[in-house]
Amino acid sequence: PVLILLGPPGAGKGTQARMLEEKYSLVQLSTGDLLRAAVAAGTEAGLAAKAVMEAGELVSDEIVINILRDRLGDADCAKGVILDGFPRTTVQAEALNALLAETGQRINAAISLEVDDSEMVTRISGRFTCADCGEGYHDTYKQTAKDGVCDKCGGTDMKRRADDNAETVVSRLEAYHAQTAPLVAFYDAANCLQKVDAMGAIDDIAGALSSIVDTAT
Ligand code: AP5
Ligand code: ZN
Repeated sequence: PVLILLGPPGAGKGTQARMLEEKYSLVQLSTGDLLRAAVAAGTEAGLAAKAVMEAGELVSDEIVINILRDRLGDADCAKGVILDGFPRTTVQAEALNALLAETGQRINAAISLEVDDSEMVTRISGRFTCADCGEGYHDTYKQTAKDGVCDKCGGTDMKRRADDNAETVVSRLEAYHAQTAPLVAFYDAANCLQKVDAMGAIDDIAGALSSIVDTAT
């Protein structure tokens, strides 16, 4: 199956994608993670993307589509994918349709996580992540059981993202509303849109997503 998680920064795409990945044995494909890895590795795409990401703007369609196409071709993705943070523009959505047509796959569901802008600033400014396994946490909403020690892997190296500051969040929200929000209508027209209220508790939202996945796959 192919599942898409749409939603503004901080909506919980990464949090939910990781839970779905485990429950349904799918592969989470986050273009944000792939781009951060490219930046860390200092590849050509990473060098081009770094400043754009720090400004909270969207990286060029060309770079993102190339990165996604490469990863989607890996053997493990054949069991099914959850796209987290891709597509983010109509050009990317059309490129995805073309890629899936080549392999005879279809989109089972494009799930839009609906949250208020004010909540996103709170979620993003409190976020931190385990550097060893990638598990996401939050200062208020999702703390580690033992202070500073990852519940999943026992790692103690917690990091915060360079673009998780109040100023950049505003640009990221603007980019979402201008360039990504139109995809809600795009997938509605393609008859695969599912809207989920993402203001509630993490586990309740996970329950709603599971019902959608069970029906759509
Ligand atoms: P990306 O990495 O995709 O970031 P984003 O879209 O801004 O999304 P986030 O990762 O910030 O939020 P999330 O929805 O995953 O929330 P999370 O689950 O962490 O992109 C970063 C940048 O890369 C972009 O700005 C752009 O420059 C570039 N980029 C990436 N893809 C691109 C593309 N396709 N095209 C062009 N450029 C691209 O949750 C947030 C926090 O809230 C966590 O602390 C979590 O614990 C907590 N939380 C989650 N759910 C809940 C809940 N229900 N209640 C309370 N707290 C919660
Ligand atoms: Zn960990």
